[in-house]
Amino acid sequence: MSYEKTEQFPKDFLWGASTSAYQVEGAWDEDGKGPSVIDMANVVAGTTDIKVTSDHYHHYKQDVKLFSELGLKAYRFSIAWTRIYPQGDGEINMKGIEFYNNLINELLAYGIVPIVTMYHFDLPYALAEKGGWSNRATVNAFADFSKTLFEYFGDRVNYWLTINEQNMMILHGDALGTSSCTDVENPLQDLYQQNHHMLLAQAKAMVLCHEMLPAAKIGPAPNISSIYPASSKPEDVLAANNCSAIRNWLYLDMAVYGRYNNIAWSFLKLRNALPDIADGDMAVMAAAKPDFIAFNYYSTQTVAASTGKDDKNSTGDQQIVVGEEGMYKGASNPNLSVNEFGWEIDPVGFRNTFREIYERYALPLIVTENGLGAFDKVEQDGSINDDYRIEYLAQHIEQIQLAVNDGVEVFGYCPWSAIDLVSTHQGCSKRYGFIHVNRDEFDLKDLQRSKKKSFYWYQDLINSQGC
Ligand code: BG6
Repeated sequence: MSYEKTEQFPKDFLWGASTSAYQVEGAWDEDGKGPSVIDMANVVAGTTDIKVTSDHYHHYKQDVKLFSELGLKAYRFSIAWTRIYPQGDGEINMKGIEFYNNLINELLAYGIVPIVTMYHFDLPYALAEKGGWSNRATVNAFADFSKTLFEYFGDRVNYWLTINEQNMMILHGDALGTSSCTDVENPLQDLYQQNHHMLLAQAKAMVLCHEMLPAAKIGPAPNISSIYPASSKPEDVLAANNCSAIRNWLYLDMAVYGRYNNIAWSFLKLRNALPDIADGDMAVMAAAKPDFIAFNYYSTQTVAASTGKDDKNSTGDQQIVVGEEGMYKGASNPNLSVNEFGWEIDPVGFRNTFREIYERYALPLIVTENGLGAFDKVEQDGSINDDYRIEYLAQHIEQIQLAVNDGVEVFGYCPWSAIDLVSTHQGCSKRYGFIHVNRDEFDLKDLQRSKKKSFYWYQDLINSQGC
């Protein structure tokens, strides 16, 4: 469908940008912060650790000032669970509360709306040592943590995201450093038990949020991609349907409708991997109602019919499909170009993804990640001419506008990332930000901030309401 005249973005559209705590803050053990699973994970050879990252913890005032200059209407960031509860539960660390109070107040002073992710991959290590998400106690620890966040920040934060990319943690835990299922008899069952506990924790947080903060809005934040069949062969189409269920709808069907997706459930049953569901769990899931759906989008994915055991070849990258025997296997899409890291680029697929989500759930949507990782080059005069990033973002924003014309309710766009940070497993040379941070993998240099070409481009775009 093409339109002669495209509708404008709504006046109050939240033009934003994103980060996550462990990727941007640094200060990994300062002011009482406890270690998370990410802090304790092995660093990929040749890449930096995450002790300092962009040192946003000490530069937040300067960074927020730059965000304001950029024109951001919203800033999506995450709260490090272990700054608030160093051991995951128990005693609150008031220094952690103070940091986020300061950050939120600073944002509000510039008129920037805070959008808070409660948990972005950084499970407290102390909880992981007690079984992590395999242990049901983690559900209550998360519910208590969410209650604390609502108590301390709920007077100023109106947008809450529960869990970042739960689906990627389940499907690509190794790449993200979030895996915690080790010596168990049935690893797949354990993995989906963890998944069930996370879904339950999310549901409890949503219920609590509505009880405690009637004016606030809360939603899940998975990574959602339209899944294409590699060909029009019916077996490939079926494989795409399988993959959508396991990768996408399992998460959103539960968050929105409070029920397990039937295809995902049948898959788990076939594999003897059904989670144990305690009395009352499904009632909590059913009572929890998100106000919106946030989703991260980098590309679509393409799959073909399964050909057997070899389908499950992990590439160590969260954006590349890991196959499932009997269900689907990853395939490349010859119609798409790829970025420097092999991620396919599919702006039209973005529009498809919006349509699919909205048709299925009819809830307002916000994009909480979308962007291009690249090796940026600093020129002699200090400029960074990231035209490739501008092109990627412009093409994707155009598709959001078309989705809006298609009748999809979209209220915000927060590309990844507001400022350079450390990628999930490829160090800090893979950059995403509008703002450059002067450091290398192993040389912290002066961490000075500078504006990339994309900064000025996004500033103009926000000023002109996306035109
Ligand atoms: C998403 C994560 O999966 O992709 C972010 O939510 C991550 O934390 C982003 O940084 C980009 O991936 P990467 O691996 O390039 O950092």
